Amino acid sequence: MDNSLIDTLRQALKQSPDNVALRLSLAHVLFENHRYDEAEQEYKTGLSHAPGDVNLKSGLAEVFYAQGKFSAALVICEELVNARQGTAQTYLVYARALHQREEYPEAAAMYARARELNPDISDQYLESLVAAKSKQAAEKPELSPEYTTGDPGGRFVPYHERPSISFADVGGMDNLKDEIRLKIIHPLTNPEIYAAYGKKIGGGILMYGPPGCGKTYLARAAAGEVKATFISVSISDVLDMYTGQSERNLHDIFENARENTPSVLFFDEVDALGASRRDMRQSASRQVINQFLAELDGIDSGNEGVLILAATNAPWHLDSAFRRPGRFDRIIFVPPPDEAARAAILEVLLKDKPAGDVDIPALAKRTRDFSGADLNALLDLAVEGKLREALKTRKPEPLSTKCLMKVIKTIKPTTRGWFTTAKNYALYANENGLYNDILDYLRIK
Ligand SMILES: Nc1ncnc2c1ncn2[C@@H]1O[C@H](COP(=O)(O)OP(=O)(O)OP(=O)(O)O)[C@@H](O)[C@H]1O
Ligand SMILES: [Mg+2]
Repeated sequence: MDNSLIDTLRQALKQSPDNVALRLSLAHVLFENHRYDEAEQEYKTGLSHAPGDVNLKSGLAEVFYAQGKFSAALVICEELVNARQGTAQTYLVYARALHQREEYPEAAAMYARARELNPDISDQYLESLVAAKSKQAAEKPELSPEYTTGDPGGRFVPYHERPSISFADVGGMDNLKDEIRLKIIHPLTNPEIYAAYGKKIGGGILMYGPPGCGKTYLARAAAGEVKATFISVSISDVLDMYTGQSERNLHDIFENARENTPSVLFFDEVDALGASRRDMRQSASRQVINQFLAELDGIDSGNEGVLILAATNAPWHLDSAFRRPGRFDRIIFVPPPDEAARAAILEVLLKDKPAGDVDIPALAKRTRDFSGADLNALLDLAVEGKLREALKTRKPEPLSTKCLMKVIKTIKPTTRGWFTTAKNYALYANENGLYNDILDYLRIK
């Protein structure tokens, strides 16, 4: 035990509490003696005097790791690495914490980086992990270029399609269709009219609402409506832990949309970019958000011919910078379909199903709170039931109102859970009436 050394250092620190080097030595000795709680305290006190100190931060990450607080360790390591301040030790702790999280490829990459910075570093577990990983890589077949994502060094190629559906295939949602026409379709098809009014083209529409209510479907239909390339990007696929790689991925995606105009660039789960996520490690860094905003603003290259749409189930996780003019300045609530919309959706969905004389208005009445996806499930279940019967009776019967009504009783609409959460935000975090639409929908005034 280095008790006397520890006492001496403590005495010295009493005299000069803001001596960072001294504090670092004390924390280090405490750590070496497995006195982790005290070490944590010293690192934190040190950081209160010198908030940016890399060695203190790195030390704190190491203590957290030793205490089994892996998430906390990861957050610090990620911050240091993103700021390009990671030392060999930082990368080593990072690799170990990732290993604990069973994120093996990332752990191997971080370990390799630690060894690059300091060849003396060695960790038996991580060593065997790296060996296993390179063996796996040698055996893995090449992915098709359409689906490769975030390969460091290579370009990020997002998912592309030319949708065959258009607004006619979308039941109801008339307000939303109008909004999309006015804001992003007409500027594309009649640029001269917009120019005549001096209206700047740009910005996008953010859709939010409960799952399965047609956000993704509507975005695809918008692309089909103008015969544009539909580029769909899930934000979590873009986020990459390699320093700077997420930013490059985002840039590649926007470039890709600019090269394929007219295009609809659709960002799903944009809330993954939110700064206030509970699991901090999953959320994007400030740099990534800034890169996204800069691309959105079209700062270097302009976004003519690129329609930008985004969707989220959790708009409250989004940074308010997203809502500035010229960005997502239209935020639209996509509610569960109302009765008329449900009828329209059922009409669309029944088109390619074996249906007899089905009373669509009656079904629409009985499916309150059903999302589009729930209605889809309803028909699937009904078809399955008929199929089972037909196998027995050898007499295929079309879908009927009666059998559909029976299935309705067995389905619990999936939108209700979402409203429980949304209601709280609408009641208690409703800045500038942002979520008034939710309150209106729930008839809360
Ligand atoms: N208005 C609609 N007209 C026709 N079909 C619809 C409509 N709304 C939803 N659907 C059907 O419901 C399915 C689910 O909708 P979609 O995937 O677009 O929901 P979402 O809002 O994007 O959900 P999530 O938030 O879970 O991503 C669609 O594939 C489509 O078949
Ligand atoms: Mg979706």
